Amino acid sequence: MALLEARDIVKIYPNGVLANNGVSLSVEKGEIHAVVGENGAGKSTLMKILYGLEQPTSGSIQLRGEQVVLSGPHKAIAQGIGMVHQNFMLVDSFTIAENIVLGSEPRSGMTRDLKKAVADTEQLSKTYGLHLDPMAKIIDTPVGMRQRVEILKALYRGAELLILDEPTAVLTPGETTDLFNAIRNLINEGKTVIFITHKLREVMDISDRVTVMRDAKLVGMVNTSETSIPDLARMMVGREVFMQVERPPVVRGAPVLEVNDMLYANDAGRKVVNHISFRVCRNEILGIAGVEGNGQTELVEVLTGLRDVTTGEATVNGVDVLNQGPRHVREHKVAHIPEDRLTNGVARDASIADNLIIDSYYRPPFKQHLGLQPEAIRKHGREMIAEFGIVAASEDTHVGSLSGGNMQKVIVAREFSSNPQLLIAAQPTRGVDIGAIEFIHQQLVDKRTQGLAILLVSADLQEVMKLSDRIMVMYNGEIAAFLPNTPDLTEEKLGMYMLGAVHQTPEELEAAR
Ligand SMILES: Nc1ncnc2c1ncn2[C@@H]1O[C@H](COP(=O)(O)OP(=O)(O)O)[C@@H](O)[C@H]1O
Ligand SMILES: [Mg+2]
Repeated sequence: MALLEARDIVKIYPNGVLANNGVSLSVEKGEIHAVVGENGAGKSTLMKILYGLEQPTSGSIQLRGEQVVLSGPHKAIAQGIGMVHQNFMLVDSFTIAENIVLGSEPRSGMTRDLKKAVADTEQLSKTYGLHLDPMAKIIDTPVGMRQRVEILKALYRGAELLILDEPTAVLTPGETTDLFNAIRNLINEGKTVIFITHKLREVMDISDRVTVMRDAKLVGMVNTSETSIPDLARMMVGREVFMQVERPPVVRGAPVLEVNDMLYANDAGRKVVNHISFRVCRNEILGIAGVEGNGQTELVEVLTGLRDVTTGEATVNGVDVLNQGPRHVREHKVAHIPEDRLTNGVARDASIADNLIIDSYYRPPFKQHLGLQPEAIRKHGREMIAEFGIVAASEDTHVGSLSGGNMQKVIVAREFSSNPQLLIAAQPTRGVDIGAIEFIHQQLVDKRTQGLAILLVSADLQEVMKLSDRIMVMYNGEIAAFLPNTPDLTEEKLGMYMLGAVHQTPEELEAAR
């Protein structure tokens, strides 16, 4: 008998959106059950129904063989169901322990027993290997840690079945590894986990079975050991997905970006980017591989004018681009897809059309002597929506209401339409769904074939290996190697350089830069 069976769930929201169209889900006790699907497929809606946050329009739910009506989260919690949402729901000014016991505080007599709250938190944290400081305030707690708090909060309330809605979307690769270890501990302690994601590598790594959703419907349910990433991708997207990008051979052109002996030391005096020299040429994608935190982010911020360098030089087509701010860099034909698109990438409250000209509004055709030209701006918006396949009602749609993949397409469209000679792409597909990833990859390679110089930084090694012509490995602020991306280059070999086990000699680096 399944632990949970949802049958023929239909959900029509009050505004008429059909978010679940006859979905059935079966979850066995003790399994890790992944639910995958592109943005908007209806995954969160189904999970909210299982947690009593939304009521199904029709359909039924059985727990341990008995029909239940989950009229609110309290009902779900009483049945041993817990959920960690995409957006955390914690009280910033409270400590971790206070948040974990909130609403179910241990008491001694008439008063809340905060000592016991701390002791209980420590106990839980130890049992599941989810380490945290019970006395720290949420406001001082980083994202990965807040997620642990949410998980422990659900466990404190007796969750046997834990629903995690896109838990890795906000995590770094290291935090993701920690989370996966914690999930395995939960299973060892007899819990059951439903894990939502659109990253198929994660599905293959951690799950026992996978349910695939597309356009509000269930497409299928498979055993993880009997499926593959291409199969799952095809089910999710509804067509063949080309996981490999055609990278037609081209001759590397003249250098566009030249970096010489660049040093960036942070406020604490640490040499975060430590005397590095390299080039990016026309018709090439130079990919930077490295464990996050080895200077890649700072290097990009220096090159895009967001930080001032300590010493050294960087030129684009012979023009010095350092220490003069982002606008100077852009005016010298450098485009930038930023790592953190929510803070640096888009104005969420502005329209798609306005976001597309955020860096060029002061130039014709968007500004003529009479002032801003709204019709030219909107026409450009419509053209970009069509060319980049941005799914939105119109060019007036606010960017904040778009899915992650479509938001990223707006950024890519904006950066390409500035007609750059150098593109700095930092984590260009982080948090983006498969269809959009495929599109963005193809765009990057096409532009490179047409002559663009591209510096690609990605924490996803597969992405670096798929797109790059050459790979530069960073370790501890230094360049550990330049490697041509030939078919015999393996993840293992790259890993040796990424972890600092091996290092090319200064002569080898000089010859290959
Ligand atoms: N509260 C709501 N009211 C109206 N429509 C909603 C609501 N929540 C989600 N939707 C719509 O339902 C569809 C499915 O959304 P969701 O379940 O969040 O998908 P997923 O989690 O797979 O990205 C989307 O079209 C979304 O815009
Ligand atoms: Mg969702």
